[in-house]
Amino acid sequence: MARGERRRRGAPTDGARVAEGAARGGPARRESRGGVARGTVAAAVLVIVVLPLALTLSGSWLLAWHRARRAVTLHSAPPALPPDSSSPAVTPDLFWGTYRPHVYFGMKTRSPQPLLTGLMWAQHGTTPKLRHTCEQGDGVGPYGWEFHDGLSFGRQHIQDGALRLTTEFVKRPGGQHGGDWSWRVTVEPQASGTSALPLVSLFFYVATDGKEVLVPEVEAKGQLKFISGHSSELGDFRFTLLAPTSPGNTTPKYGSYNVFWSSNPGLPLLTEMVKSRLNGWFQHRPPGASPERYLGLPGSLKWEDRGPNGQGQGQGQFLIQQVTVKVPFSVELVFESGSAQAGGNQALGQLAGSLLTQALESHAEAFRERFEKTFQLQKKGLSPEEQALGQAALSGLLGGIGYFYGQGLVLPDMKVEGSEQKVAPALFPPVPLFTAVPSRSFFPRGFLWDEGFHQLLVQRWDPRLTREALGHWLGLLNADGWIGREQVLGDEARVRVPPEFLVQRAAHANPPTLLLPVAHMLEGNDPADLAFLRRAFPRLHAWFSWLHQSQAGPVPLSYRWRGRDSALPTLLNPKTLPSGLDDYPRASHPSATERHLDLRCWVALGARVLVQLAEQLGEAEAVAELGPLAASLGAEEILDELHWAPELGVFADFGNHTKAVHLKPRPPHGLVRVVGRPHPRLQYVDALGYVSLFPLLLRLLDPHSSRLGPLLDVLADSRHLWSPFGLRSLAASSPFYGQRNSEHDPPYWRGAVWLNVNYLALGALHHYGHLKGPHQARAAKLHSELRANVVGNVLRQYQATGFLWEQYSDRDGRGMGCRPFQGWTSLVLLAMAEDY
Ligand SMILES: *[C@@H]1O[C@H](CO)[C@@H](O)[C@H](O)[C@H]1NC(C)=O
Repeated sequence: MARGERRRRGAPTDGARVAEGAARGGPARRESRGGVARGTVAAAVLVIVVLPLALTLSGSWLLAWHRARRAVTLHSAPPALPPDSSSPAVTPDLFWGTYRPHVYFGMKTRSPQPLLTGLMWAQHGTTPKLRHTCEQGDGVGPYGWEFHDGLSFGRQHIQDGALRLTTEFVKRPGGQHGGDWSWRVTVEPQASGTSALPLVSLFFYVATDGKEVLVPEVEAKGQLKFISGHSSELGDFRFTLLAPTSPGNTTPKYGSYNVFWSSNPGLPLLTEMVKSRLNGWFQHRPPGASPERYLGLPGSLKWEDRGPNGQGQGQGQFLIQQVTVKVPFSVELVFESGSAQAGGNQALGQLAGSLLTQALESHAEAFRERFEKTFQLQKKGLSPEEQALGQAALSGLLGGIGYFYGQGLVLPDMKVEGSEQKVAPALFPPVPLFTAVPSRSFFPRGFLWDEGFHQLLVQRWDPRLTREALGHWLGLLNADGWIGREQVLGDEARVRVPPEFLVQRAAHANPPTLLLPVAHMLEGNDPADLAFLRRAFPRLHAWFSWLHQSQAGPVPLSYRWRGRDSALPTLLNPKTLPSGLDDYPRASHPSATERHLDLRCWVALGARVLVQLAEQLGEAEAVAELGPLAASLGAEEILDELHWAPELGVFADFGNHTKAVHLKPRPPHGLVRVVGRPHPRLQYVDALGYVSLFPLLLRLLDPHSSRLGPLLDVLADSRHLWSPFGLRSLAASSPFYGQRNSEHDPPYWRGAVWLNVNYLALGALHHYGHLKGPHQARAAKLHSELRANVVGNVLRQYQATGFLWEQYSDRDGRGMGCRPFQGWTSLVLLAMAEDY
């Protein structure tokens, strides 16, 4: 999956590589300093010897410089989305959203300098913990969206020890600035009948990023009447925090109030700032009850931490209202847009109390109806539990959509005619990205190949969201046609990634999965999709052309992933992060002779989709250019010639390989790779697993192909890929099965069950199960058995843990890796719906 944080776990390995790089840089630097010291003799040498040399070198230097510039220059094709498409004027209903997936609850605008809102909370008592951002290890959970329609409404449940929080929002359209919205946060004890009810603080905050627009209106000590503000995008607006009530009715509850504001310290520092300001001087004193101490904010009534000239210096503002109440209770926050209120919303009444309850209920009802209409789980006879899982899968994916804005770091392709030029990483231009994320706690940012899978589900629900996401991703294209596989945009995203993993390499690809939702658009007949594809075509074309040219392999029509790890003595099998299958075993000795089967299949799929697209759009030139390529890549005899391994009886990678590698303890170095006999030689790579299945997974084989049978054999064999929980990534019979890649790097794609590939497999089995051919009946049978295994296990794990997981154990089905993982694991819904 090629993820920075995953790589961080292999840090000593990567650290070794960084150290090696630094050592290589060292002598060069020393040399140049020496050159200055040697003075005039050096000048003579410079003219006679160095100058001609430099002139030759400058040719390649210029070329490197040119490449470096192109790497961080945006592609010149017209944008796939209309100008200002994220603005409240053009897309008012998407302007506000839960576009901060890494916080438990928050909303912001789709804007480079957004207005942000969020929630923190703490339970008072022995060791209060301030909750704000989703974390793997903070003990909160399970949590996730029960409903989220991706647009205007959502309800989330969060378990935090003895507490159960419910966070809900609903939007009300109107005006020209994105309309109104309201929140309700309900806090209840986990179990009823507990004796001492806890005291809980909710912290509602508003932050601006670089623009100062907020004016707090103080009601009483520590309590705000409302916060008003104005910005060019939002016009006039007002936030009002209503008094706490008992859940489900309007009986008021006593609340203690604290307030704090300052200039914005930087979004990643908000939690720390609040933590550092909390102090224990405060008492909660409801009438007739004994007072209770709590941690509260100090109640500053002026903007703090101003710059020397009294200005905020464009850092923005941070304003937080704390309300402390005995559990159980509900609190509502109302955002009113001036133009929406003036345009008729005021007459409808404030979206709070019973009106809010009504709005939430009618949205929940509409969600249920639309969900059944779209996926028909009930009609297909799936159980209420399965339907609930499906709703949570969809809602979690939609609730994980974020809006990011910022500049990535790019390392240009440095290889110029054999010589490697040193080029520093450069900043990519500032770009927006509207995307779903793999995991709110662990990977809360955009990942290229994940997104193609995400959008397969999103487009069934709301094709417009998919056009928005694809349009944004295609907006990241550089002048060469490259898109970086991991997008770390903005401070909030950057703080989650160790500095050495911020850099994206412009020579490295990633599977072109965005073409999967594109292919689905082509099957449908939505005029809006076709209009989008027409605008997007030049970018899709450039992206595909870059892929198939830059990753060309050693022989025609073969392909090779650039960017395998180099062969370090600590690695069992150098990883191939660009493939997305990180540690899936490849040739034991990386070399330019490699031919990668999965990549070839991705390129074949890409050529096929591009040609279909060009045909549909009447792009005759592109059809003429890509048609022959698609035909050659689709020709089974060429695939056979390059990848069929008769000795293995399956398709395989090809490269310099030996099976005789293993890790051996060698103190004090730890585990070290030992290569035995037979020595590596050019051959097919014996690593049976997901890669072997790619011609099947991407439906590249004819139903009468003689290769289909053998692939179904390994798929269905429990000694190889079949497990009771889904297809395992690497055959149980493989010597690499379940093996660590280094002392610090546990197995990742070496046995575990992954939902994205199982979804592709289900789609392929369903496909061959519906086409006449010698394997039709078998494919159909395998489809229904695999579907039952995969869906059954994800459901069991969801019921046991409350989460969808990154991967599942092929031994006992247990959820593994990070959670919640409502990226591609959400495809379980499409598997239930049998929608491929
Ligand atoms: C394969 O790798 C070994 C070890 O690095 C090397 O000696 C050999 O020349 C390589 N063979 C080919 C054909 O590249």
